Amino acid sequence: MFFNLLGSLFSRMCVASGRRTVITAAAKEIQDTKVSSFRTLDSYPPEHGLNHLNHIYTVPETITNVLMPGVPDEMKKQIKIFHEFSILIRKPAIELISYLEQTDYTKCINKYVLYGNLGVGKTITLLHLVHYGLVRNFVVVYLPWVANWFRFPKKIVQSVSNPDQLDLPEEAATWLKFFKYLNTMTLSQLNLKVTKEYTWSHRESTKCDDSLFSLIDFGIQRSKFACDVVHALLDEIKKASIVGKCRTLVVIDGFNAFTAKSTLVRDENRVYATPDRISITSAFFDIVNYNWCNGAVILTVDTRANKERKESVYPAYLLGKKGFEHLDPFLPICVENYSTEEFETILKYYEDRKWIREISSQGQKEWEMLCNKNPREVWNFSKPL
Ligand SMILES: *[C@@H]1O[C@H](CO)[C@@H](O)[C@H](O)[C@H]1NC(C)=O
Ligand SMILES: *[C@@H]1O[C@H](CO)[C@@H](O)[C@H](O)[C@H]1NC(C)=O
Repeated sequence: MFFNLLGSLFSRMCVASGRRTVITAAAKEIQDTKVSSFRTLDSYPPEHGLNHLNHIYTVPETITNVLMPGVPDEMKKQIKIFHEFSILIRKPAIELISYLEQTDYTKCINKYVLYGNLGVGKTITLLHLVHYGLVRNFVVVYLPWVANWFRFPKKIVQSVSNPDQLDLPEEAATWLKFFKYLNTMTLSQLNLKVTKEYTWSHRESTKCDDSLFSLIDFGIQRSKFACDVVHALLDEIKKASIVGKCRTLVVIDGFNAFTAKSTLVRDENRVYATPDRISITSAFFDIVNYNWCNGAVILTVDTRANKERKESVYPAYLLGKKGFEHLDPFLPICVENYSTEEFETILKYYEDRKWIREISSQGQKEWEMLCNKNPREVWNFSKPL
Protein backbone atom coordinates (compact mmCIF):
# COMPACT_ATOMS: atom_id res chain seq x y z
CA MET A 1 0.00 0.00 0.00
CA PHE A 2 1.00 3.64 -0.01
CA PHE A 3 2.26 3.46 3.53
CA ASN A 4 5.91 3.20 4.38
CA LEU A 5 7.22 4.20 0.97
CA LEU A 6 9.41 6.83 2.56
CA GLY A 7 10.08 4.68 5.54
CA SER A 8 13.52 3.31 4.86
CA LEU A 9 15.64 6.09 6.35
CA PHE A 10 13.83 6.26 9.63
CA SER A 11 13.21 2.59 9.92
CA ARG A 12 16.94 2.08 9.73
CA MET A 13 17.42 4.48 12.62
CA CYS A 14 14.85 2.64 14.61
CA VAL A 15 16.10 -0.81 13.82
CA ALA A 16 19.57 0.36 14.74
CA SER A 17 18.27 1.29 18.16
CA GLY A 18 17.74 -2.39 18.73
CA ARG A 19 14.15 -2.26 19.83
CA ARG A 20 12.54 -3.87 16.90
CA THR A 21 9.30 -5.34 18.05
CA VAL A 22 7.13 -7.49 15.95
CA ILE A 23 3.53 -7.73 16.93
CA THR A 24 1.60 -10.52 15.43
CA ALA A 25 -1.97 -9.93 14.51
CA ALA A 26 -3.78 -10.80 17.66
CA ALA A 27 -6.79 -12.82 16.68
CA LYS A 28 -7.67 -13.89 20.17
CA GLU A 29 -10.95 -15.53 20.88
CA ILE A 30 -12.45 -13.86 23.86
CA GLN A 31 -14.22 -15.77 26.56
CA ASP A 32 -17.86 -14.96 26.45
CA THR A 33 -18.56 -13.39 29.81
CA LYS A 34 -21.35 -10.98 29.12
CA VAL A 35 -23.70 -9.73 31.76
CA SER A 36 -26.46 -8.32 29.62
CA SER A 37 -26.48 -9.47 26.04
CA PHE A 38 -25.47 -6.02 24.77
CA ARG A 39 -22.50 -5.66 27.11
CA THR A 40 -19.05 -7.13 27.07
CA LEU A 41 -16.97 -7.32 30.22
CA ASP A 42 -13.85 -7.14 28.13
CA SER A 43 -12.64 -3.63 28.84
CA TYR A 44 -9.15 -4.06 27.39
CA PRO A 45 -9.22 -2.37 23.96
CA PRO A 46 -6.23 -4.25 22.46
CA GLU A 47 -8.43 -7.34 22.57
CA HIS A 48 -11.44 -5.71 20.98
CA GLY A 49 -12.18 -7.43 17.69
CA LEU A 50 -14.99 -8.31 15.36
CA ASN A 51 -16.69 -10.49 17.95
CA HIS A 52 -17.19 -7.41 20.14
CA LEU A 53 -18.96 -5.37 17.50
CA ASN A 54 -22.24 -3.78 18.62
CA HIS A 55 -21.38 -4.43 22.26
CA ILE A 56 -20.89 -1.87 24.96
CA TYR A 57 -17.88 -1.92 27.24
CA THR A 58 -17.28 0.15 30.32
CA VAL A 59 -14.07 2.11 30.60
CA PRO A 60 -12.39 1.33 33.95
CA GLU A 61 -12.61 4.11 36.49
CA THR A 62 -8.87 4.82 36.61
CA ILE A 63 -8.85 5.45 32.86
CA THR A 64 -12.10 7.42 32.97
CA ASN A 65 -10.59 9.72 35.57
CA VAL A 66 -7.48 10.59 33.57
CA LEU A 67 -9.49 10.95 30.36
CA MET A 68 -12.18 13.17 31.85
CA PRO A 69 -10.62 16.57 31.09
CA GLY A 70 -10.51 15.53 27.42
CA VAL A 71 -14.13 14.43 27.24
CA PRO A 72 -16.65 16.81 25.58
CA ASP A 73 -19.23 18.34 27.95
CA GLU A 74 -22.24 16.51 26.58
CA MET A 75 -20.45 13.20 27.08
CA LYS A 76 -19.43 14.21 30.59
CA LYS A 77 -23.11 14.74 31.38
CA GLN A 78 -23.93 11.30 30.05
CA ILE A 79 -21.18 9.71 32.14
CA LYS A 80 -22.57 11.41 35.21
CA ILE A 81 -26.14 10.35 34.50
CA PHE A 82 -25.20 6.74 33.73
CA HIS A 83 -22.66 6.43 36.56
CA GLU A 84 -20.19 4.89 34.14
CA PHE A 85 -18.29 5.70 31.00
CA SER A 86 -19.40 3.24 28.37
CA ILE A 87 -18.37 3.00 24.77
CA LEU A 88 -20.13 1.16 21.98
CA ILE A 89 -17.56 -0.94 20.15
CA ARG A 90 -17.85 0.08 16.53
CA LYS A 91 -16.21 -0.78 13.26
CA PRO A 92 -13.86 2.22 12.84
CA ALA A 93 -12.34 1.60 16.29
CA ILE A 94 -11.93 -2.12 15.68
CA GLU A 95 -10.33 -1.41 12.34
CA LEU A 96 -7.88 1.07 13.85
CA ILE A 97 -7.01 -1.22 16.75
CA SER A 98 -6.23 -4.01 14.34
CA TYR A 99 -4.00 -1.68 12.28
CA LEU A 100 -2.19 -0.45 15.38
CA GLU A 101 -1.66 -4.03 16.56
CA GLN A 102 -0.18 -5.03 13.22
CA THR A 103 1.94 -1.95 12.55
CA ASP A 104 5.65 -2.35 12.01
CA TYR A 105 6.75 0.44 14.31
CA THR A 106 10.28 0.49 12.94
CA LYS A 107 8.79 2.15 9.87
CA CYS A 108 7.66 5.74 9.57
CA ILE A 109 4.44 6.62 11.33
CA ASN A 110 1.13 5.77 9.71
CA LYS A 111 -1.60 8.38 9.75
CA TYR A 112 -5.33 7.81 9.92
CA VAL A 113 -7.97 10.44 9.39
CA LEU A 114 -11.49 9.84 10.68
CA TYR A 115 -14.25 11.68 8.88
CA GLY A 116 -18.03 11.66 8.71
CA ASN A 117 -21.15 13.72 9.28
CA LEU A 118 -21.80 15.73 12.41
CA GLY A 119 -22.61 13.66 15.47
CA VAL A 120 -21.66 10.25 14.07
CA GLY A 121 -19.25 9.53 16.92
CA LYS A 122 -15.79 10.53 15.73
CA THR A 123 -14.74 11.88 19.12
CA ILE A 124 -15.93 8.82 21.02
CA THR A 125 -14.00 6.67 18.57
CA LEU A 126 -10.91 8.72 19.41
CA LEU A 127 -11.52 8.18 23.12
CA HIS A 128 -11.69 4.42 22.53
CA LEU A 129 -8.31 4.70 20.79
CA VAL A 130 -6.84 6.87 23.53
CA HIS A 131 -7.86 4.16 25.99
CA TYR A 132 -6.12 1.66 23.73
CA GLY A 133 -2.97 3.78 23.67
CA LEU A 134 -2.87 4.19 27.43
CA VAL A 135 -3.14 0.49 28.21
CA ARG A 136 -0.60 -0.31 25.50
CA ASN A 137 1.82 2.08 27.23
CA PHE A 138 2.01 4.55 24.40
CA VAL A 139 2.83 8.11 25.28
CA VAL A 140 -0.52 9.60 24.26
CA VAL A 141 -0.43 13.08 22.76
CA TYR A 142 -4.16 13.73 22.85
CA LEU A 143 -5.35 17.13 21.76
CA PRO A 144 -9.12 17.45 22.23
CA TRP A 145 -11.11 19.76 19.95
CA VAL A 146 -8.48 22.07 18.45
CA ALA A 147 -10.99 24.82 17.59
CA ASN A 148 -11.46 25.48 21.32
CA TRP A 149 -7.95 26.93 21.43
CA PHE A 150 -8.80 29.35 18.66
CA ARG A 151 -12.20 30.40 19.88
CA PHE A 152 -12.03 32.26 23.18
CA PRO A 153 -8.47 32.09 24.46
CA LYS A 154 -8.09 33.57 27.94
CA LYS A 155 -4.96 35.45 26.99
CA ILE A 156 -3.26 36.27 23.70
CA VAL A 157 0.34 37.48 23.86
CA GLN A 158 3.25 37.90 21.53
CA SER A 159 5.25 34.68 21.38
CA VAL A 160 8.25 34.63 23.70
CA SER A 161 10.52 33.04 21.11
CA ASN A 162 9.11 34.42 17.85
CA PRO A 163 7.78 38.00 17.74
CA ASP A 164 5.69 37.29 14.61
CA GLN A 165 3.67 34.65 16.40
CA LEU A 166 1.00 34.61 19.08
CA ASP A 167 1.07 32.53 22.25
CA LEU A 168 -2.03 31.25 24.04
CA PRO A 169 -0.30 30.65 27.38
CA GLU A 170 -3.31 29.67 29.51
CA GLU A 171 -4.59 27.07 27.07
CA ALA A 172 -1.09 25.68 26.61
CA ALA A 173 -0.53 25.35 30.36
CA THR A 174 -3.91 23.67 30.78
CA TRP A 175 -3.09 21.23 28.01
CA LEU A 176 0.31 20.44 29.56
CA LYS A 177 -1.45 19.65 32.82
CA PHE A 178 -3.84 17.33 30.99
CA PHE A 179 -0.98 15.71 29.10
CA LYS A 180 0.87 15.04 32.34
CA TYR A 181 -2.21 13.68 34.06
CA LEU A 182 -3.00 11.39 31.13
CA ASN A 183 0.54 10.05 30.83
CA THR A 184 1.77 9.98 34.41
CA MET A 185 1.76 6.19 34.61
CA THR A 186 3.54 5.66 31.32
CA LEU A 187 6.06 8.46 31.79
CA SER A 188 6.95 7.28 35.30
CA GLN A 189 7.80 3.85 33.91
CA LEU A 190 9.73 5.20 30.93
CA ASN A 191 11.75 7.75 32.86
CA LEU A 192 12.38 9.88 29.76
CA LYS A 193 15.03 12.59 29.94
CA VAL A 194 15.39 15.91 28.17
CA THR A 195 18.12 15.66 25.51
CA LYS A 196 19.37 19.24 25.46
CA GLU A 197 19.40 22.37 27.52
CA TYR A 198 16.53 24.85 27.13
CA THR A 199 17.22 28.38 28.32
CA TRP A 200 13.96 30.15 29.13
CA SER A 201 15.27 33.33 30.74
CA HIS A 202 18.38 34.60 32.52
CA ARG A 203 17.55 32.59 35.58
CA GLU A 204 15.41 29.77 34.25
CA SER A 205 16.41 26.77 32.21
CA THR A 206 15.70 23.09 31.77
CA LYS A 207 18.96 21.16 31.80
CA CYS A 208 19.97 18.31 29.57
CA ASP A 209 19.10 15.03 31.35
CA ASP A 210 16.41 16.60 33.51
CA SER A 211 13.32 14.41 33.55
CA LEU A 212 10.58 15.10 31.03
CA PHE A 213 8.33 15.79 34.03
CA SER A 214 10.45 18.77 35.03
CA LEU A 215 10.05 20.24 31.55
CA ILE A 216 6.27 19.76 31.70
CA ASP A 217 6.03 21.14 35.24
CA PHE A 218 7.97 24.21 34.23
CA GLY A 219 5.44 24.94 31.48
CA ILE A 220 2.55 24.43 33.89
CA GLN A 221 4.01 26.72 36.55
CA ARG A 222 5.37 29.37 34.22
CA SER A 223 2.57 29.64 31.71
CA LYS A 224 4.40 32.51 30.01
CA PHE A 225 6.61 29.79 28.51
CA ALA A 226 3.93 27.13 28.13
CA CYS A 227 3.73 27.36 24.33
CA ASP A 228 7.48 26.99 23.95
CA VAL A 229 7.35 24.08 26.38
CA VAL A 230 4.71 22.41 24.17
CA HIS A 231 7.16 22.73 21.27
CA ALA A 232 10.04 21.35 23.34
CA LEU A 233 7.91 18.53 24.73
CA LEU A 234 6.66 17.32 21.37
CA ASP A 235 10.18 17.55 19.99
CA GLU A 236 11.56 15.48 22.87
CA ILE A 237 8.82 12.88 22.52
CA LYS A 238 9.52 12.58 18.84
CA LYS A 239 13.25 12.12 19.48
CA ALA A 240 12.61 9.57 22.21
CA SER A 241 10.34 7.65 19.83
CA ILE A 242 12.89 7.69 17.01
CA VAL A 243 15.58 6.16 19.21
CA GLY A 244 13.09 3.60 20.48
CA LYS A 245 12.71 4.77 24.06
CA CYS A 246 8.95 4.99 23.75
CA ARG A 247 6.01 4.64 21.42
CA THR A 248 3.76 7.58 20.84
CA LEU A 249 0.14 7.80 19.79
CA VAL A 250 -0.88 11.22 18.52
CA VAL A 251 -4.63 11.84 18.65
CA ILE A 252 -6.04 15.18 17.49
CA ASP A 253 -9.73 16.04 17.29
CA GLY A 254 -10.76 18.50 14.59
CA PHE A 255 -7.32 18.80 13.02
CA ASN A 256 -8.66 20.94 10.16
CA ALA A 257 -8.96 23.87 12.59
CA PHE A 258 -5.19 24.13 12.07
CA THR A 259 -5.66 24.50 8.32
CA ALA A 260 -8.65 26.86 8.39
CA LYS A 261 -8.39 30.29 6.76
CA SER A 262 -8.78 32.10 10.05
CA THR A 263 -9.26 31.86 13.80
CA LEU A 264 -11.12 34.00 16.34
CA VAL A 265 -7.78 34.95 17.89
CA ARG A 266 -7.11 38.65 17.31
CA ASP A 267 -3.64 40.10 17.13
CA GLU A 268 -2.53 43.50 18.53
CA ASN A 269 -4.17 45.24 15.56
CA ARG A 270 -7.48 43.49 16.25
CA VAL A 271 -7.03 41.42 13.10
CA TYR A 272 -8.09 37.79 13.19
CA ALA A 273 -4.96 35.65 13.06
CA THR A 274 -4.52 32.74 10.69
CA PRO A 275 -3.81 29.41 12.42
CA ASP A 276 -0.18 29.43 11.30
CA ARG A 277 0.40 32.66 13.21
CA ILE A 278 -0.48 30.91 16.44
CA SER A 279 2.62 29.38 17.89
CA ILE A 280 1.32 25.96 18.89
CA THR A 281 0.09 25.21 15.36
CA SER A 282 3.56 24.44 14.05
CA ALA A 283 4.27 22.13 17.01
CA PHE A 284 1.26 19.98 16.16
CA PHE A 285 1.97 20.23 12.44
CA ASP A 286 5.42 18.90 13.14
CA ILE A 287 4.26 15.93 15.23
CA VAL A 288 2.08 14.74 12.33
CA ASN A 289 4.97 15.01 9.89
CA TYR A 290 6.24 11.83 8.33
CA ASN A 291 9.79 11.99 9.68
CA TRP A 292 9.64 9.76 12.73
CA CYS A 293 8.85 6.23 13.78
CA ASN A 294 7.56 4.23 16.76
CA GLY A 295 4.34 6.13 16.59
CA ALA A 296 1.00 6.56 14.91
CA VAL A 297 -1.26 9.52 14.23
CA ILE A 298 -5.05 9.47 14.41
CA LEU A 299 -6.91 12.65 13.49
CA THR A 300 -10.46 13.69 12.86
CA VAL A 301 -11.69 16.31 10.43
CA ASP A 302 -15.06 17.93 10.95
CA THR A 303 -17.09 20.66 9.28
CA ARG A 304 -17.50 22.36 12.66
CA ALA A 305 -13.74 22.79 13.00
CA ASN A 306 -13.49 25.49 10.36
CA LYS A 307 -15.71 28.32 9.28
CA GLU A 308 -15.33 28.32 5.53
CA ARG A 309 -15.49 24.69 4.45
CA LYS A 310 -18.97 23.28 5.01
CA GLU A 311 -19.82 21.61 1.71
CA SER A 312 -18.40 18.17 2.25
CA VAL A 313 -17.06 15.97 5.04
CA TYR A 314 -14.21 14.46 3.03
CA PRO A 315 -10.68 14.95 4.37
CA ALA A 316 -9.20 16.24 1.09
CA TYR A 317 -11.76 19.05 1.13
CA LEU A 318 -11.76 19.84 4.84
CA LEU A 319 -7.98 19.87 5.18
CA GLY A 320 -7.45 22.26 2.29
CA LYS A 321 -4.52 21.90 -0.07
CA LYS A 322 -1.80 22.69 2.43
CA GLY A 323 -3.15 20.44 5.14
CA PHE A 324 -3.77 17.61 2.73
CA GLU A 325 -0.28 17.78 1.28
CA HIS A 326 1.24 17.90 4.74
CA LEU A 327 -0.62 14.80 5.90
CA ASP A 328 -0.42 12.82 2.69
CA PRO A 329 -0.19 9.82 2.69
CA PHE A 330 -2.91 8.91 5.18
CA LEU A 331 -5.68 6.38 5.41
CA PRO A 332 -9.16 7.93 5.55
CA ILE A 333 -11.64 6.07 7.75
CA CYS A 334 -15.34 6.85 7.59
CA VAL A 335 -17.50 6.96 10.71
CA GLU A 336 -21.20 6.54 10.00
CA ASN A 337 -24.56 6.78 11.72
CA TYR A 338 -25.52 3.75 13.80
CA SER A 339 -26.44 0.58 12.01
CA THR A 340 -29.77 -0.95 13.01
CA GLU A 341 -27.96 -3.36 15.35
CA GLU A 342 -26.02 -0.52 16.95
CA PHE A 343 -29.17 1.53 17.35
CA GLU A 344 -30.89 -1.39 19.09
CA THR A 345 -27.90 -1.87 21.38
CA ILE A 346 -28.01 1.78 22.37
CA LEU A 347 -31.72 1.61 23.14
CA LYS A 348 -31.18 -1.46 25.31
CA TYR A 349 -28.43 0.37 27.07
CA TYR A 350 -30.58 3.44 27.72
CA GLU A 351 -33.28 1.13 29.08
CA ASP A 352 -30.76 -0.65 31.26
CA ARG A 353 -29.64 2.68 32.68
CA LYS A 354 -33.30 3.55 33.34
CA TRP A 355 -32.83 6.52 31.06
CA ILE A 356 -35.79 5.56 28.90
CA ARG A 357 -38.71 3.25 29.52
CA GLU A 358 -39.16 0.13 27.50
CA ILE A 359 -40.11 1.15 24.04
CA SER A 360 -42.51 -0.50 21.59
CA SER A 361 -41.22 -1.67 18.26
CA GLN A 362 -43.44 0.97 16.66
CA GLY A 363 -41.90 3.67 18.85
CA GLN A 364 -38.49 2.37 18.00
CA LYS A 365 -39.18 2.63 14.28
CA GLU A 366 -40.38 6.21 14.60
CA TRP A 367 -37.37 7.14 16.64
CA GLU A 368 -35.09 5.51 14.11
CA MET A 369 -36.67 7.53 11.31
CA LEU A 370 -36.60 10.84 13.17
CA CYS A 371 -32.92 10.57 14.05
CA ASN A 372 -31.58 8.75 11.01
CA LYS A 373 -29.78 6.66 13.63
CA ASN A 374 -27.41 9.57 14.07
CA PRO A 375 -25.71 9.01 17.46
CA ARG A 376 -25.89 12.60 18.63
CA GLU A 377 -29.51 12.95 17.60
CA VAL A 378 -30.46 9.63 19.16
CA TRP A 379 -29.03 10.91 22.44
CA ASN A 380 -30.59 14.33 22.03
CA PHE A 381 -33.95 12.84 21.21
CA SER A 382 -33.87 10.58 24.27
CA LYS A 383 -33.51 13.47 26.71
CA PRO A 384 -37.12 14.61 26.96
CA LEU A 385 -38.40 11.01 27.07
C1 LIG B 1 -26.92 10.46 9.43
O1 LIG B 1 -27.73 11.28 10.24
C2 LIG B 1 -27.76 12.64 9.88
C3 LIG B 1 -28.54 13.39 10.93
O2 LIG B 1 -29.86 12.98 11.01
C4 LIG B 1 -28.37 12.80 8.50
O3 LIG B 1 -28.38 14.16 8.12
C5 LIG B 1 -27.54 11.99 7.52
O4 LIG B 1 -28.14 12.02 6.25
C6 LIG B 1 -27.42 10.54 7.99
N1 LIG B 1 -26.48 9.87 7.11
C7 LIG B 1 -26.80 8.78 6.45
C8 LIG B 1 -25.75 8.23 5.57
O5 LIG B 1 -27.88 8.25 6.58
C1 LIG C 1 -31.83 18.58 20.14
O1 LIG C 1 -33.21 18.57 20.38
C2 LIG C 1 -33.80 19.86 20.43
C3 LIG C 1 -35.28 19.69 20.76
O2 LIG C 1 -35.55 18.56 21.46
C4 LIG C 1 -33.59 20.57 19.11
O3 LIG C 1 -34.13 21.89 19.19
C5 LIG C 1 -32.11 20.63 18.79
O4 LIG C 1 -31.91 21.20 17.52
C6 LIG C 1 -31.51 19.24 18.81
N1 LIG C 1 -30.07 19.31 18.60
C7 LIG C 1 -29.42 18.47 17.84
C8 LIG C 1 -27.95 18.65 17.77
O5 LIG C 1 -29.96 17.57 17.25
